[in-house]
Amino acid sequence: MEIVIVQDRAALADYAAQIIGKQIHTKPDSVLGLATGSTPVETYQRLVEAHKSKGLDFSKVRTFNLDEYLGLPRDHNQSYHFFMHDRLFNHVNIAPENVNLPDGMAMDPETACADYENKIADAGGIDLQLLGVGGNGHIAFNEPGSSLAGPTTIKVLTRQTVSDNARLFFDGNEEEVPKFAITMGVGSILAARKVLLIATGTEKAAIVRAFVEGPLTASVTASALQMHPNATIVLDEEAASKLENIEYYRWVQSQKSEYEKLKNRLAK
Ligand code: F6R
Repeated sequence: MEIVIVQDRAALADYAAQIIGKQIHTKPDSVLGLATGSTPVETYQRLVEAHKSKGLDFSKVRTFNLDEYLGLPRDHNQSYHFFMHDRLFNHVNIAPENVNLPDGMAMDPETACADYENKIADAGGIDLQLLGVGGNGHIAFNEPGSSLAGPTTIKVLTRQTVSDNARLFFDGNEEEVPKFAITMGVGSILAARKVLLIATGTEKAAIVRAFVEGPLTASVTASALQMHPNATIVLDEEAASKLENIEYYRWVQSQKSEYEKLKNRLAK
């Protein structure tokens, strides 16, 4: 895992948007895996700005979102379908047929899970997967105890996730937060060619330490990223504040340009 520590939320959004922008420049028909929640909001703002001011072109980009609440219609203002259109898709030139989210109103949810996996495979797999991390270490809605190899599936949300989501969304009303979600599995996430996890704030510091430096465990599903060959974890200072090896991660970043110089010298 590459650990990148930036000053604050704004710098994190700049950094994440740059990585995503670069991915789109390098491969215009990239398949992006996208996340909802509060962490990526500013990153999506930056992508919209890059589209408007620098012509970042989404016309060939295909997207797959991580998850969706089960039983919430697409046009519900708390659905992830609504969120993604509101924050990103309505403001860039993405083709509607290239946008994919799990179907929260699927008549047969289990078949919908298998269909979603097939659709990702048909698109050639995910090039770059953006992730946040939940307070309990979940990635997508893979709550503690989820398989670290599983595909898209139905999950029961933990009480903590329900209350976190009520606090941030649903006007604080826990009763209204759906208790089930259809979510890409940890296995689906690990299959992405690149993974970019972003986390901010002191409230994420303990779980960041647990998944970056703690044991690989289904109790903290983000720890599965330790097994991914190309995972970048971007943290603001607050989220990084409990990392034990923080000085080493900073040192690695400071040596990046030295490594490029060394490579150039060796190539001569
Ligand atoms: C969202 C998702 C979740 C969030 C996580 C963090 O699609 O899959 O895993 O990334 O709950 O949420 P925030 O960013 O609101 O702290």
